[in-house]
Amino acid sequence: MYDFDKIIERSGTNAYKLDLREKYFGTDDLLPLWVADMDFAAPPEIQESIMARARHEVYGYTIRKEEFTGAIVDWCAYKHQWTIKDEWIEYSPGVVPALAFSVLAFSNPGDGVIINTPVYPPFYSVIGGNKRKVLKNGLLNKDGRYEIDFYLLEEQAKLETTKIYMLCSPHNPVGRVWTKEELLKIHAICSKYNVLVLADEIHSDLALFNHKHIPFASVSEEAAQNSISFMAPSKTFNIAGFSTSYVVTANKDLLEAYRQMQNNLQLHMGHLFSGVALTSAYNKGRSWLNELTSYLENNILFIENYLKDKLPELEFFRPEATYLIWINFKNWKMNQKQLKEFLAFNAKVGLNDGLSFGSEGRGYMRMNVASPKITIEKALNQIAEAYNKL
Ligand SMILES: Cc1ncc(COP(=O)(O)O)c(C=O)c1O
Repeated sequence: MYDFDKIIERSGTNAYKLDLREKYFGTDDLLPLWVADMDFAAPPEIQESIMARARHEVYGYTIRKEEFTGAIVDWCAYKHQWTIKDEWIEYSPGVVPALAFSVLAFSNPGDGVIINTPVYPPFYSVIGGNKRKVLKNGLLNKDGRYEIDFYLLEEQAKLETTKIYMLCSPHNPVGRVWTKEELLKIHAICSKYNVLVLADEIHSDLALFNHKHIPFASVSEEAAQNSISFMAPSKTFNIAGFSTSYVVTANKDLLEAYRQMQNNLQLHMGHLFSGVALTSAYNKGRSWLNELTSYLENNILFIENYLKDKLPELEFFRPEATYLIWINFKNWKMNQKQLKEFLAFNAKVGLNDGLSFGSEGRGYMRMNVASPKITIEKALNQIAEAYNKL
């Protein structure tokens, strides 16, 4: 019913993915499969809500009413079978800003924050940029499927100065949906040593291939009390240009401290369209998301077959969630500079440099597959043709 095959021209819209190509890759003559937004039209239901509001000619300061928290409560129940309450929710101007406010609110300069690397690059900056210490808990790569090093996690959590564990769930870029057993182990270690869990669950609605996202806070009452969840419809419905994110915690003290930090920084007002976009996405976006999920799965299966067939030295673990795939190029025996240049200038395809996710990303690139299949096929053909010419 929805047309994900349609090619939508994005030039002239100030799109980060297009307009920063020259700066990031040194050329704008490449297919951009990097920044994590989608090349698909947002659900028509959201477009209509935004246009209806835009037609009213006054764009003054805005508030978010019960429709906003109500839509979130209903969505979490529908999508994740997670029962939350309106009063556990606070709007946030972005997941990354909200993580930064939490680092400021719940730790002091010099304290340690644990992250599972390789990981989404802003995890490093919200910690290091705020003068906290990044404690790298490198994921264990078991034949492409990544697992958490629980032994190291306990050693890190034990340190007196460790205050926060910043969990990426599902994980960007390795595509894992953490199991209940894994989440319970994280909880056991963090609660034992009084380490607060900040669970970035922005990709939670994009679980694929029958994997099931489990909100960290839903694994037990104690986990709910010792965590804050960071969520948004922005990745799910391709509305990242609006600020539609929010935090959830059952712990009143944590919520109050978070709120105070956000208010002190005067970032609580929010964007007029964010409430409109979130509410219509959650209230009306279910069937669109079901179709999107199948489309993404098909793209991923297509890539899997293509690589097996034409580029068998490239490997990736089929992601359990997200529209991002983490491709291992190590068999090509290029160094990172050669690999980047080959992809940008020979193949003319723009992927995210694996090294930007941490040193474990050497030899890897992240590909965004949320584009029409024909674009993905074109990108793969360009890579294969350029490689055959070497
Ligand atoms: C794990 C993760 N967290 C947060 C974000 C961005 O969140 P926001 O745009 O709300 O700051 C992304 C975007 O790619 C992400 O992958």
